[in-house]
Amino acid sequence: MKIRAAVLEEFGKPLVVQDLELAPPRAGEVLVRVHACGVCHTDLYTASGVDPSGYAPTVLGHEGAGVVEAVGEGVTSLRPGDHVVTLFSPECGECVHCRSGKTNICLAIREQQNRGYLPDGTTRLSRGGEPIRHFMGTSTFAEATVLPEIALARIDPAASMTSACLLACGATTGLAAAIWKAEVEPGSTCAVFGAGMVGLGAVAGCKLRRAERILAIDPSAERLELARRWGATDLLQPDEHIVQRVVEMTGGFGADYTFEATGRVDVMGQAVEAARMGWGLCTILGVAGRGEKLEIVPRFLITGRRVQGGSFGGAKGRTHVPQLVDMYLRGELDLDGFVSHRVTLDQVNHAFELMEQQDGIRSVIEFDVH
Ligand SMILES: NC(=O)c1ccc[n+]([C@@H]2O[C@H](COP(=O)([O-])OP(=O)(O)OC[C@H]3O[C@@H](n4cnc5c(N)ncnc54)[C@H](O)[C@@H]3O)[C@@H](O)[C@H]2O)c1
Ligand SMILES: [Zn+2]
Ligand SMILES: [Zn+2]
Repeated sequence: MKIRAAVLEEFGKPLVVQDLELAPPRAGEVLVRVHACGVCHTDLYTASGVDPSGYAPTVLGHEGAGVVEAVGEGVTSLRPGDHVVTLFSPECGECVHCRSGKTNICLAIREQQNRGYLPDGTTRLSRGGEPIRHFMGTSTFAEATVLPEIALARIDPAASMTSACLLACGATTGLAAAIWKAEVEPGSTCAVFGAGMVGLGAVAGCKLRRAERILAIDPSAERLELARRWGATDLLQPDEHIVQRVVEMTGGFGADYTFEATGRVDVMGQAVEAARMGWGLCTILGVAGRGEKLEIVPRFLITGRRVQGGSFGGAKGRTHVPQLVDMYLRGELDLDGFVSHRVTLDQVNHAFELMEQQDGIRSVIEFDVH
């Protein structure tokens, strides 16, 4: 079938929206009509050419939600008409990692996905016979896409696609980190560094876990106000004494749980130091620049602080994303508020500009679905 898609032709250049060919799903694959797709930092990071593992041409996009249109041979868990959220981090349920219950890093299709191919080593995207590689196994800056069955979470069809798509990356990363990775305990104190999409998700997750105090730290007063809306109790603009301030505000010991959602290694260090002596748990979510290192004085660890990180916030996509959608539908989780701009596929480069200007939390591409 013919589809419109935003193609990264050359690093550092605007994406080019054009017609491509999309082949039908093969065994274990699913054809999804994309209804909405958020624009995330990783798309821009890859488009800019800074990511050493990036390649072009490719169709970017990984924060998608849509409807199953067709399934390939052997697909049993999804059928046409199902509403789905795309998963750059799949969940096969069978590999040694999935079975361990200890990690969300599924091993099933990793190698081919990183190289831009579907699990059988080929692509469904092409143009004039030239194969075009997939991106993050998702390529959702497109009217339709083909993904492996294990990279789709089936969700309640009552959910708005424009809001649910945020659970494909940004919102889930913060939410899952607080709810399932850190398992924030009721009554605890939390400090969240960075109040963008990921940090606000973490704030919301801490609130859902009934944390007593949630400190939000961000230089932007506007973003701090948003953090209050999602549950932050104390708002702090960082200065060189930020760790000391957090420690003082948490009984002199530090926060039970800290979260880093900025991508800055200096802030990651602050998040470690602001965690409570004895048992404080620091969860790092930001993606640092190439070659950057996080420095930790070992004394902070000897005295009981712990550090962990999580791709996709540690979420197991097929298990956790539907649960988050249900929380949204029950009115416990405000996803709609994260959507600051709605754009068309042709405006995708404008959405990148908005992100660079830190204008709004998330721009979502809404597709014309007939
Ligand atoms: N772990 C994952 O799987 C995953 C998924 C999505 C995004 N990320 C990463 O998470 C990070 C955050 O993503 P986002 O979409 O929320 O980005 P964002 O740019 O919207 O938010 C980052 C926030 O950090 C704030 N900030 C800047 N300097 C700060 C400082 N010194 N102290 C505290 N806050 C500061 C900014 O004002 C901004 O509000 C990025 O590095 C992104 O690449 C990781
Ligand atoms: Zn993302
Ligand atoms: Zn697996």
